[in-house]
Amino acid sequence: MRVKILGKKGSLTLEFAKLKDMQGEEKKEFANSLNMQKDAFNKAFESKVKELNALALDEKMKENAQHFSYFDENAQVGALHPVMATMDKIIEYFLALNFSIEKGPLIEDDFHNFEALNLPKSHPARDMQDTFYFDDKRLLRTHTSPVQIRTMLATKPPIRMITPGAVFRRDLDLTHTPMFHQVEGLVVEEGQKVNFANLKSILEEFLIFMFGDVRVRFRPSFFPFTEPSAEVDISCVFCKGQGCRVCKQTGWLEVLGCGVVDPNVFKFVGYENVSGYAFGLGVERFAMLLHEIPDLRSLFEGDLRLLEQFK
Ligand code: PHE
Repeated sequence: MRVKILGKKGSLTLEFAKLKDMQGEEKKEFANSLNMQKDAFNKAFESKVKELNALALDEKMKENAQHFSYFDENAQVGALHPVMATMDKIIEYFLALNFSIEKGPLIEDDFHNFEALNLPKSHPARDMQDTFYFDDKRLLRTHTSPVQIRTMLATKPPIRMITPGAVFRRDLDLTHTPMFHQVEGLVVEEGQKVNFANLKSILEEFLIFMFGDVRVRFRPSFFPFTEPSAEVDISCVFCKGQGCRVCKQTGWLEVLGCGVVDPNVFKFVGYENVSGYAFGLGVERFAMLLHEIPDLRSLFEGDLRLLEQFK
């Protein structure tokens, strides 16, 4: 087609040749119209080439697809990892209550991970979380709480958020791995609308949603970023509170940290006259209790014999 129109003896080329015998206005007009035709042809030509190339690619893919769709008989269907399935169940509960889902970086700085959470430098509470540091003082976040700070700095109350994600600590034994997952929650309202009673009722219902028929108790505790603070226990899901090896004969299992947001945290993010509560939980721990998995580390080994049980 192109040779026929724009080749050496192409129809349009021959028309262009006539220009040399023309002059003035007539030549200008004729040249204009020829150029327009040439442009129109080139455009049409290019789009047709694209179309044909796409078709050719389609054909090729169809041919090769036969190889991809050839499944070995041993191919196995996977399943959601129990930690992710547990995370989904936690998220499901809070989504239904209109919480938003926020995200933050895994590599944090001192300000977001510690300082703005009311953990000044050299504060002994920093030892509660053994931190991985980079040479330039940045660090792997030790909890999901820095996302509270980031969200408060970026928006105004009311806030009703959870933030699920990986966290890192220098720890490794039966019940600790250097990477694990937390879900953090934060609620902030203007004025004094939010208090410990709200926190208590929402967490009680949440734990019954997760674990079914359990008793829930709040124990006074300490976190630098909440005041008052509590740790939350459920009656042991293994022995129903009778006392066993898993609950160390106490009948209770610790599952959550929480509290009313410390006024100092609000100062760091420039909030005035607000109230709020926060909580944080370890997803692996929830998964272990839900599925009676005795060793935390087995969740990270990718052993199909374990994972297959969750199909
Ligand atoms: N950030 C705390 C931890 O990782 C958990 C927590 C979150 C406690 C929010 C209270 C409020 O241990």
